[in-house]
Amino acid sequence: MSFNDPAAAVGNAPNNPGVASVGKSKGVRPTIFVKELSRRARRRLLRHFLALSSGDRLLRFGSVLSDDLITRYVENIDFSRDTVFGVYDRKLRLLGVGHLAFAPRQALPSVSSFTTKERVAEFGVSVAASARGMGVGSRLFERAAICCRNVDIDTLYMHCLSSNKVMMHIAKKAGMAIHRDYGEADAYLKLPPANPASVLQEAVEEQVAIIDYTVKANLRAVLKWLSGLPGIRRDR
Ligand SMILES: CC(C)(COP(=O)(O)OP(=O)(O)OC[C@H]1O[C@@H](n2cnc3c(N)ncnc32)[C@H](O)[C@@H]1OP(=O)(O)O)[C@@H](O)C(=O)NCCC(=O)NCCS
Repeated sequence: MSFNDPAAAVGNAPNNPGVASVGKSKGVRPTIFVKELSRRARRRLLRHFLALSSGDRLLRFGSVLSDDLITRYVENIDFSRDTVFGVYDRKLRLLGVGHLAFAPRQALPSVSSFTTKERVAEFGVSVAASARGMGVGSRLFERAAICCRNVDIDTLYMHCLSSNKVMMHIAKKAGMAIHRDYGEADAYLKLPPANPASVLQEAVEEQVAIIDYTVKANLRAVLKWLSGLPGIRRDR
């Protein structure tokens, strides 16, 4: 088991409040804002993970974690070491979470032969069932890759079941080298070094995601305040 085991502003789709109404077809995907999460997001992270079905827990963590183990996993996420990304809907629920876990190269012998850098990064991702197929998982992956580049990591690693067709598709699309063994798969993405454009891109993406989050949070606060006024019913 790997060290990442126990990490949109998407607007309004009919079945998915919080996901833009542009549909799921290719080419008309919603704008997705990926925000870096802090320890203050633990409660929302927990809600996101607990909502995953047994099958999804198996795909995400490599085994069907109980609610207790998921709770422990969330409590133990080390935000000072790792980077966790999230995609929020308009009600500030986490639609997708990407956990980029960093470790010394020696911690992952299978990755150490791919890099001469001091640290390696492993990526784990999950998207709420209602928000799949809209590009949330791919955007979280892209953000993780650019983050790795910018912190001088040249190999992004992912461990998953080889039966995980969607993740295998995302990995192949990203150009990852995939090694399959006994029903499991290790995927490696070689990353170019950081440059001013990659640093600027990540900074701009984060700023836009912060603005999006702030707008949503303020809107929710205003709606809550309004719903407290006599004669005004809040539309949930
Ligand atoms: C894997 C997961 C994160 C993908 O999230 P997502 O937001 O639905 O992914 P995206 O929408 O970005 O991309 C899905 C891609 O898979 C493709 N896809 C969907 N079903 C597929 C299938 N059965 N076989 C192959 N590809 C498939 C989609 O067409 C899309 O490809 P495209 O971008 O080229 O059109 C999500 O399914 C999930 O949370 N699964 C459970 C946890 C998990 O498996 N985590 C990964 C292990 S760490």
